[in-house]
Amino acid sequence: LLPHEEKWIRADSPEDMIAIIQRLAVRGAPLIGVAAALALGRYAATGRSVEEIEAAATALRNARPTAVNLMHAIDRLTRVLAKRGPKALLPEAEAIFQEDVALCEAMASRGAALIQDGDGIITACNTGGLATAGRGTALGAIRTACEQGKRIHVYVDETRPLLQGARLTAWELSKLGIPFTLICDNMAASLLRSGRVRAAFVGADRVAVNGDVANKIGTYGLAVLCKHHNVPFYVVAPRTTYDPKCRTGAEIPIEERAAGEVRGVQAFKEAKVWNPAFDVTPRELIRKIIFEDRDW
Ligand code: MRU
Repeated sequence: LLPHEEKWIRADSPEDMIAIIQRLAVRGAPLIGVAAALALGRYAATGRSVEEIEAAATALRNARPTAVNLMHAIDRLTRVLAKRGPKALLPEAEAIFQEDVALCEAMASRGAALIQDGDGIITACNTGGLATAGRGTALGAIRTACEQGKRIHVYVDETRPLLQGARLTAWELSKLGIPFTLICDNMAASLLRSGRVRAAFVGADRVAVNGDVANKIGTYGLAVLCKHHNVPFYVVAPRTTYDPKCRTGAEIPIEERAAGEVRGVQAFKEAKVWNPAFDVTPRELIRKIIFEDRDW
């Protein structure tokens, strides 16, 4: 509904939350993990058996495949279930929520240190309050830099096909009073060539052991353009986005979504469509990955 209508929705069961996550009413890697954890915690608090809770955990864990924060959050609750029983789940889920708020604060101040007064910054997708429990990852860093008094202009990739940039990032920036310009994804090359952009800041859905990063489709293309134009490309992500089990980006499962998202209302209706929701940016195109406690 955003940006035209702000509506708060309830998830009364794990099934509700799975549907909400799958239709992207809740989206963004950290927020998917937090929201799924809260749904499982609340379910466990309503007197369910261990078997029922385990089944709900498996279903929630499979809601979307790429953002590893979801798997980390559910695995953490499953370990707590085995050790301390169902009653421990809701407090643990609330701890995950609070931790994400703190991770955002820490990433934002580390990221903001790389932003200078007068910078033009390009970003993609939405990595702000609508993608996390706190102020966000890449957008959190931009927001903190603005709060420090730095004058920044943000260039927002619209983020085809679902327009997380045009709909969500533009909405957030406008609410925050941060100046921005919206561009179509295919305008980034010309914008970078114009010299108006000093750095790129994006988020991540999964960081592999070798530093490859999966993020919203189009991120890889933007990184290639930044390399060509000698613009530093920064990824801002919390530890919950790091996957010690994925050695390289090639092992990251990439979600493919429905053809209708690409066809929209204008395209030839029978057009065959390929709609990967994410791509992998190789480590060599990334200047730095900014975690909450270290730069890599
Ligand atoms: O499909 P989405 O909207 O869930 O994709 C979100 C992204 O790709 C974000 O850039 C990523 O989750 C980092 S958000 C802090």
